[in-house]
Amino acid sequence: MTNETKSQTAELRLDGRTIALPVLEDNAGCRALDIRGLWKEAQVYTYDPGFGCTVSCQSAISHVDGEKGRLLYRGYPVEVLTEHCTFVEVAYLLIHGALPTHAQAERFSALLNRHSMIHEDMRTFFRRYPERAHPMAVLSAMVVSLSSFYPEVEQADEDIDIAATRLLSKLRTIAAFSYKKSIGEPIIQPSYKLSYCANFLNMMFNSPVEDYTVDPVLVRAMNQLLILHADHGQNCSTSTVRMVGSSGANLYASVCAGICALWGPLHGGANQEVIEMLSGIQREGGSVDQAIAQAKDKTNPRRLMGFGHRIYKTFDPRAAIVKKICREIMTRVGAKDPLLDIAMELEAKALADPYFAERKLYPNVDFYTGIAYRAMGFPTDMFTVLFALGRLPGWIAQWQELKRDPHQRIGRPQQLYTGPAHSTFRPIDQRA
Ligand code: SDX
Repeated sequence: MTNETKSQTAELRLDGRTIALPVLEDNAGCRALDIRGLWKEAQVYTYDPGFGCTVSCQSAISHVDGEKGRLLYRGYPVEVLTEHCTFVEVAYLLIHGALPTHAQAERFSALLNRHSMIHEDMRTFFRRYPERAHPMAVLSAMVVSLSSFYPEVEQADEDIDIAATRLLSKLRTIAAFSYKKSIGEPIIQPSYKLSYCANFLNMMFNSPVEDYTVDPVLVRAMNQLLILHADHGQNCSTSTVRMVGSSGANLYASVCAGICALWGPLHGGANQEVIEMLSGIQREGGSVDQAIAQAKDKTNPRRLMGFGHRIYKTFDPRAAIVKKICREIMTRVGAKDPLLDIAMELEAKALADPYFAERKLYPNVDFYTGIAYRAMGFPTDMFTVLFALGRLPGWIAQWQELKRDPHQRIGRPQQLYTGPAHSTFRPIDQRA
């Protein structure tokens, strides 16, 4: 919990009164005014659209240091975890608070295998879904329907390992099935013989008519890319999972809401938007100068996708790692993607431009991930699904932390009302 003993007190002077506000401080030196008693004390709220200056909870899961460009999962730097762990180990770390022992890792993997298939009736659901549906639509619909197929999730005492591994494993299967459906190919079932990421790549790219061998280099890259997305403080989709969970909604309903929030182009949908932006530059002759000029032009709604971040005011540490993974994948598959060259030119020019430097706009996690996924063979509309697959253990851990937090209440922000004080009713035949 935060350190309230060494906290100071701030004073608010309003209406001739002085209101004392405790200052809380966390383990990273971040401070927050405790305003929980503000309305009762002073009949005044705080105004903060987008919650950029608002702490919504206390959390021990991840820490994002925007000034230093550092990301920790339960205290471990993300660089260390991507180098030495699998995604399943990191999922266990986020959900349980410690890296697993051999026995714990084996049980977790066995549960992931046991829950890897989806109910046959769900496949009927798949068959009826429109061919051209965006995979994020399929993912959100399937995840919320899990609570109908596996109602035990409503039982408060369901073992978190069961609920978590069921969701972690089935989301991976649903993601692969949604891809196979979109290309009209038969689905490939999961296999107990393969690890989490190897299974996913096999379900995505194997087919009945062509031998496919899972490449260990791509399996490692998949593990690393999913680890890099696993949690990131109270971002838009995680805050959505918490908001929905705070009403008492079950884990699947809360995660479904998180998937929908992640779909937005300003959040997880940005990795798809980056590729569309780079492809547009390539189509129009490859000049990055126009893209940069448009991003700076306030009359133009276009932004430099994959650039900027609410928290990072220096390089997003994940972007540097993804850039390295990009190169490893392309070397392995022998791909030459002109979009990588365009991306690197765009990055160099933007970083040298005062507009971006003054606003501390740097590449974020989404800037290079799309290029890495393309090199692995994923279609563009699957990129945000991959983000959701990576973020899932973070959402589960955050939802669980919310349920256990004694300070948490149902989320219900206030508003400043700007509508009419009174409207006089007129029956329809008297209205102009
Ligand atoms: C993710 O929160 C998280 O942790 C998210 C995430 C996670 O792991 O969960 O890290 C994942 O969502 C990464 C972000 C992906 N989105 C994009 O790449 C979309 C492009 N980026 C921007 O839309 C923007 O930077 C945001 C949405 C990411 C952050 O927006 P903020 O914090 O609300 O910043 P802002 O809109 O207040 O911008 C401040 C200034 C403005 O200019 P001025 O009004 O000061 O003149 O910077 C400008 C903005 O116009 N600006 C940009 C820009 N981002 C900000 N200008 C051009 N291109 C950009 N990308």
